[in-house]
Amino acid sequence: MCTELRQATAPQIWAIASGKGGVGKSVIATNLAISLAKEGRRCTLIDADLGGANLHTLLGMQRPKRDLTHLFTDNQVNLQQLAIPTGIDGLDLVCGSMDMLDVANLHLAKKQKLIRQVASLDNEHVIIDIGAGSSFNSLDFFLLGHQSILVVLPTPSSLENVYHFLKAALSRKFTQAARRLGLSLSIDSSALLPWPQIEKLRATQPLTADALQEEVGRLQPRIIINQARTVEERQLGGQIALACRHFFNINVEALGSIDFDERVYTSVQKMKPALQEEGEFGFDLAIHDITRNLLDSGRSK
Ligand SMILES: Nc1ncnc2c1ncn2[C@@H]1O[C@H](COP(=O)(O)OP(=O)(O)OP(=O)(O)O)[C@@H](O)[C@H]1O
Ligand SMILES: [Mg+2]
Repeated sequence: MCTELRQATAPQIWAIASGKGGVGKSVIATNLAISLAKEGRRCTLIDADLGGANLHTLLGMQRPKRDLTHLFTDNQVNLQQLAIPTGIDGLDLVCGSMDMLDVANLHLAKKQKLIRQVASLDNEHVIIDIGAGSSFNSLDFFLLGHQSILVVLPTPSSLENVYHFLKAALSRKFTQAARRLGLSLSIDSSALLPWPQIEKLRATQPLTADALQEEVGRLQPRIIINQARTVEERQLGGQIALACRHFFNINVEALGSIDFDERVYTSVQKMKPALQEEGEFGFDLAIHDITRNLLDSGRSK
């Protein structure tokens, strides 16, 4: 693709988050990025787990000289300059911050700089690995994705966290959409959903209410169940999607499930991603299926 065409097209962004830590976000982000590269697509992987950056280790790379810290501390630096080759054809990495102690509580202007520059990166795909939990940082990176992907373990505590995370994401989306439309609306209690406020607004400003509803409705999170061991666990994504449609009135979709696989543990220990190993196993097939699903569903917003 020629440079002019590439620059004219914004990258397709996949943002990967989780309510709970240690569920497999980084492993999945890394292997999805490799899977895209293997399909001949150019991808930038961004380690946005501010304060817990580890993608370079998963990729078996030396700690880089430049990372996101430089974007936040040096006005002359842009995100594109921080993308370093991974040694895998078509795949670059922007390493996460490791030196700034307060980076997890990113200042608004710095976060906005990062968000703007992610959206204008000169690449086909961007995959963002986000820190666990529903801090505003994590939610804002999650909402930045054309595909907002939530990784869930089939454990009671992880499942509980999904609903909390999605409710927080919905509330954040509502506040952002309202602000974009010049409305000073927000959800003051995490116990509330946005829909009653939109209905109330409809009585006086029906067109604005429609626009707000449409914008909020663009939040269509995708669920990946990771470390499944039984048929029931593999099907949990569909059940979460149904429950979210029922309780939150948002369009959540199951993207697929990945089985628990000792090879993943071994690959992390060896600092060599599973998709870079010889042979093709269940994990690889699951990652390829999920990549396909994401590519097929295209831009959702
Ligand atoms: N499908 C799997 N099968 C077996 N083990 C897995 C699988 N997925 C992840 N793991 C294990 O879980 C560990 C944690 O994975 P990972 O670091 O990707 O989680 P994370 O969600 O990014 O964690 P954090 O919230 O701390 O950033 C890995 O080191 C790996 O051993
Ligand atoms: Mg991680």
